[in-house]
Amino acid sequence: MINLKTSYLGLPLKGPIVVSSTPLSESLDNVRRMEDSGAAAVVLTSLFEEQLVLESGALDADLSRGTESTPESLDYLPDLADYRMTHEVYLEHLRRCKAAVEIPIIASLNGATTGGWVRFAREMEQAGADAIELNTYALATERSQTSSEMELQLLELTDAVCRAVKIPVAVKLSQSFTSLPHLTARLEDAGATGIVLFNRFYQPDFDIETLEVRPTLHFSTPSELLPRLHWAAILYGHLRADIAITGGVHTAEDVLKSVMAGGTVAMMASALHIHGIGHIGRVLGDIEYWLEKREYAALSPTRGCLSRRSVPDTSPFDRGNYIKTLSSYSLRQTVAAF
Ligand SMILES: Cc1cc2nc3c(=O)[nH]c(=O)nc-3n(C[C@H](O)[C@H](O)[C@H](O)COP(=O)(O)O)c2cc1C
Repeated sequence: MINLKTSYLGLPLKGPIVVSSTPLSESLDNVRRMEDSGAAAVVLTSLFEEQLVLESGALDADLSRGTESTPESLDYLPDLADYRMTHEVYLEHLRRCKAAVEIPIIASLNGATTGGWVRFAREMEQAGADAIELNTYALATERSQTSSEMELQLLELTDAVCRAVKIPVAVKLSQSFTSLPHLTARLEDAGATGIVLFNRFYQPDFDIETLEVRPTLHFSTPSELLPRLHWAAILYGHLRADIAITGGVHTAEDVLKSVMAGGTVAMMASALHIHGIGHIGRVLGDIEYWLEKREYAALSPTRGCLSRRSVPDTSPFDRGNYIKTLSSYSLRQTVAAF
């Protein structure tokens, strides 16, 4: 029997596969099936800053006290009906999940700016959440917004959430930051004990007939894993915080690559929508088979073995790789192919 145990955010886990935030976990039956299939933890869907502000009137209260920021992103608030569940229903679901399964349940908060809504992190803690995943989805759409302001906003938000709770907080980041080693070190200083790489940006698509801009959501493919592996491999060894990989994890090979890059856990959402919840068990079986064949007794010794710190030649992670990759694809090959 191969030992797949690990520890994420200080929580002992029976294996490396965590269910990423997805509506699948809105059903208690599904959460039970996730545990039965071998998921080591489940991240619930997100409660959104805008929703919490609308529901609670927190923004009004903050404004009247004049003590907290008024986020510009709240100029436009989607209707409450756009959200999946109210925060009360969410907290009740969280309590039920905690009572129904033994694996850790991680609550998810999705926001961009600090404000009174952050107090809901404490409610999640009181409802029994083992940890909080803070999804920080912010977009600069004004020329006045500088990169350092965007980073500062993220750090302030992380600091506020970490101060609000005693349970661990993981920050789910988007890929578009210039210096992730510096930013993640500062997030760690702000109290984050996990870094989740990466949030997917859901770009709108354009309909050229109706001249409309429409939201789109496509499930991921394993090719999306590569930038996550690249950054995990660079960050591994530089952080005390755990690294979680989300985005493009579909197979046992993807999970093994995630761990070898330095990930503590690999998260799955799209693969479960495509193949069903039972897919987790099949992937775990394949991981065990792979490790057994190579005479590993446990998964943990493979962690970080392909990180930038561990490999003798770091050029594949650096600028050298860019030059080498482009040069290896010569014009002669391209012409011959036509
Ligand atoms: C239908 C759907 C809903 C999602 N909802 C959330 C959400 O509420 N909060 C969040 O942080 N991520 C959400 N995600 C993103 C996933 O948690 C995950 O990070 C992303 O899909 C990449 O992982 P994957 O390649 O395994 O799908 C959602 C993804 C899908 C497919």
